[in-house]
Parts: sequence; C-alpha cells; structure tokens
Amino acid sequence: MRLRATVPATSANLGPGFDCFGLALDLCNEVSVDTDAERGVTWEGEGGDELPSDGTDAVSRAMRRIAEAAGEELPPFRLHGLNRIPLARGLGSSSAAAVAGVALARTLLRLPEDGDPRAALFDAAAEIEGHPDNAAPAVYGGLTVIADRRVLRFDVPETIRPVVLVPEHVRLSTEVARRVLHERVPLADAVANVAHGALVVHAITTGDADLLSIGLRDRLHEDVRMALVPQVGEMRERIRSTGVPVCVSGSGPSLLAFDTDTRPVPDPGEGWRVLRPGVRDAGAEVREA
Ligand code: HSE
Repeated sequence: MRLRATVPATSANLGPGFDCFGLALDLCNEVSVDTDAERGVTWEGEGGDELPSDGTDAVSRAMRRIAEAAGEELPPFRLHGLNRIPLARGLGSSSAAAVAGVALARTLLRLPEDGDPRAALFDAAAEIEGHPDNAAPAVYGGLTVIADRRVLRFDVPETIRPVVLVPEHVRLSTEVARRVLHERVPLADAVANVAHGALVVHAITTGDADLLSIGLRDRLHEDVRMALVPQVGEMRERIRSTGVPVCVSGSGPSLLAFDTDTRPVPDPGEGWRVLRPGVRDAGAEVREA
C-alpha cells in the first residue's frame, strides 16, 4: 500500500488569540509511506539534511503512538517526507508532522471511524504534539478557534492575503518562547486581547484586511518574546509603522503580515524569506499514491 499525507503549515495565535486561534496556509508538507518498499526514512526540502532517518522523527513517533494506543502493529514501510514548512520558525512544522503521522497510521491500520474522522485526527494529534491551536487548522483548514477543545472553523475570503516573513538565520523553539511568558497579566491587557480577538475573527471572516492592523495587536505574549529575538521585534515595528497588519507567527520567530489593497507588505530586505502562500481552505488529506 502507498499512501501520501498532505498537511498545511499553520500560523497560531494571530496576535491576541494566544493558544486559541490558528490559520492554515497553502504551504504543505507531503509524507508518503510505502509498505511494499524497503524499510527506511528519508527527507527532502526543509530540514532534509538534519531530520533523523532512524525512526525517531515526529511523524514516525506519532505513527507508533497511534498503533500502540490501538494495540496494533504497523507493517514495515518506507517513509519519505517532502518538507515545505520551515522548521522551528513558528509555522506549525511539529503539528504538521504529528497530524501526518496520526493520519497515515490510522489509514494504514484501517482503524474504525466512529463519528467525524477529522475530530479523531485532531484529538490525537493535539494530544501528541501539545498545541491544539496549530493542530486544528492543520486538520480543518481555514481559520480555527479552539475553545475548551471544541474547534470552530471559519471560511476565509480571498481578500485575506497572508505574507509570511521568515528570518533566515533565526530560530526559536516554542519551549524557550513559552518560558518567558508571564503567569499573571494585568486585567486591562486581558480585556484588550478579548476585544482585539473579536476584531481579528470579524476582520478575517469578512475579508477586511485593514481592520486587522488594529485587531492583531496583542498585549499578552508577543512583546516578551520579541525581547528574545530583537531583530524580529524591530522588523515587526517597522512593518506596523506603515499601517500594514502584522503579528508574530505562532511563538515566532517568523512574522505573519497581510497585504491590503492600499498597503502591500514592505520588502524586509536581506536575511528574510518572504512567502505569499494564500490561506488553505482544506485541511490534512491522505490519498493512495
Ligand atoms: N500558541 C502556541 C504558542 C503556539 O504561542 O506558544 C506554538 O506554535
């Protein structure tokens, strides 16, 4: 059997929606498994020369977790990953790996589907990887909001045009970026984030990119994180000063900005990769290859 999982990159938080909001981007990893080929693990694309080939990668680990939980054994297979999502840049590469592994294992083992298969995929991937705000858009596509493990999904009109700015030589692990967060926050900051969060959902679902420049302003997590990567913080300020909507993508260090009709995202210059992937409407898919 040959299967291929396609899983999108995701940008979590969207400013004020810390740990709740996520957007699927049309920039997908493709992971193939072939049970008729010689066993092995190979990678190409992003992280192709640094990811392990001994089965300790995140896709293989997620596959084993699913098999163990089901009390089943996976058949031997060859796994090949074509990665388009930059690693450790706040674009959901770990969640994409977990979603791919869960989806592939469930299909290979023909696990019974009770109810919505996407809900089962989301629950398992979020538990394995730990960030439901990335797992939800990776599974469902579009804009997602997590509330008490419930996923709300919204369509996103084409006028919402995400621009991802990836600092080429800066990495930031989510673990490090979470360590600097404050346990307690001022009430006024929490209130501002609730209000801005509502603006973000309204702006993205109605296609009002201009309104995003206000809505994306966060007061809970971005500033403390930008102190870890000051050059990224400076770029965020530079872009914001032009009136372009911008926030930190996930826990950073990439930035997520939006082209508007009147204000395109300015060129960040050398040392930055600029991607215009579009929003991905569909979430993860597994097909026979
Ligand atoms: N919401 C998480 C964080 C996303 O900001 O730490 C991690 O990708």
